[in-house]
Amino acid sequence: MFRTLKFFRSYSTKGSFKALSLSRQRFFSITSGLRHGEYEWQDPKSEDEVVNVVYIDKDGKKTNVRGKIGDNVLYLAHRYGIEMEGACEASLACTTCHVYVHEKYLDTLPEPEEKEDDLLDMAPFLKENSRLGCQIVLTKEMEGMELKLPKATRNFYVDGHKPTPH
Ligand code: FES
Repeated sequence: MFRTLKFFRSYSTKGSFKALSLSRQRFFSITSGLRHGEYEWQDPKSEDEVVNVVYIDKDGKKTNVRGKIGDNVLYLAHRYGIEMEGACEASLACTTCHVYVHEKYLDTLPEPEEKEDDLLDMAPFLKENSRLGCQIVLTKEMEGMELKLPKATRNFYVDGHKPTPH
């Protein structure tokens, strides 16, 4: 079953990979010098930058957020008090930022890296449109995107990981 889901995710996001790679590069140049999440606390400097997104919590409550190009969906959620945990701070070591991306917008996302794909396979309540929020960086094409949180997430980094002593 999961193999099918993985194929779907790869297939559905293939089209716009190149364009989004460029926007990621832009994200990194914009945010250089800022710590994780600081960029998301800055308001858009112009209307051209604005990317509105809608977060939907596990109970169906919608929160409209005025984001901007380059915002990381995880840290933007934190700014607005959305319950997207992000236990590993975007280092691809958990699935607590698991989110369902509205099907209409799947093609605007870059293809998931293999590590994201592997982690998603372990996420509870996996769906065809599952992604890790910390890997989504807003572009203009994502205007109006709906991001729904799953019923629950599993923090297997914190719960199950046994760190080796330094
Ligand atoms: S915050 Fe851990 S993978 Fe996204």
